[in-house]
Amino acid sequence: MRKKIVAGNWKMNLDLAEGIGLAKTINQYFREKPSGERGVILCTPFIHLAGVAEILKGGKVELGAQNCASEQSGAYTGEISATMIKSTGANYVIIGHSERRTYYHEDDMLLNRKTLTALKNGLNVIFCCGEVKEERESGNHFSVVKVQLDNGLFTLSADELKSVVIAYEPVWAIGTGLTATPDQAQEMHKYIRKLVQDKYGKETADNMTILYGGSCKPSNAAEIFSKPDVDGGLIGGASLKKEDFVAIVEAL
Ligand code: PGA
Repeated sequence: MRKKIVAGNWKMNLDLAEGIGLAKTINQYFREKPSGERGVILCTPFIHLAGVAEILKGGKVELGAQNCASEQSGAYTGEISATMIKSTGANYVIIGHSERRTYYHEDDMLLNRKTLTALKNGLNVIFCCGEVKEERESGNHFSVVKVQLDNGLFTLSADELKSVVIAYEPVWAIGTGLTATPDQAQEMHKYIRKLVQDKYGKETADNMTILYGGSCKPSNAAEIFSKPDVDGGLIGGASLKKEDFVAIVEAL
């Protein structure tokens, strides 16, 4: 059966000491109260990775970055490579978050290169997709998500896709307090699973973990996660508070 996951996306928050502190309390919680089959991942800023990796070592909580370079190595001032991320002990990376697409103009072709580079270097990828408000209002949300997946992800082989988790994040719900209704999430997740099935077959589709992201919090997580095609969440704001984050994991 497919894996259930809650991943925290800290974004550009918390200085090093604060990040280490948060990782310690979350790690301690899951040491005392094991997460069972649920995967728990912390996606931290780059500079936190090595320190947080030390804290999480030997425990159940996994570690990820929020972005990586499309190229392997070389003269790319300011970039962080997949190998560097992997060398910290992290084993996940978020690719294609809407904030990267919007503010840093990362397009489908670049995200496809980043995904392939991350996979080649042994990282698992959390690949984000989702429509903006106008696209939903004009009824184009399905076609927007299809294009993002076709271009960014569906060039992968079925074997490569095994190391990928898809995160559906409607952009109008990210950090806005507006959440997709459980039915809206289910409808899109089912559609995404069907796209995977059409391209890769039923077994791959059945095994694909599809996360929901966008103003997910303790008060709405259980209802969203109860939908059959929703396999967990990618959590922004609520991942910065231990109580909220663990409550969301418990809701899964
Ligand atoms: P949010 O962010 O939970 O703060 O809405 C989710 C995300 O951007 O991954």
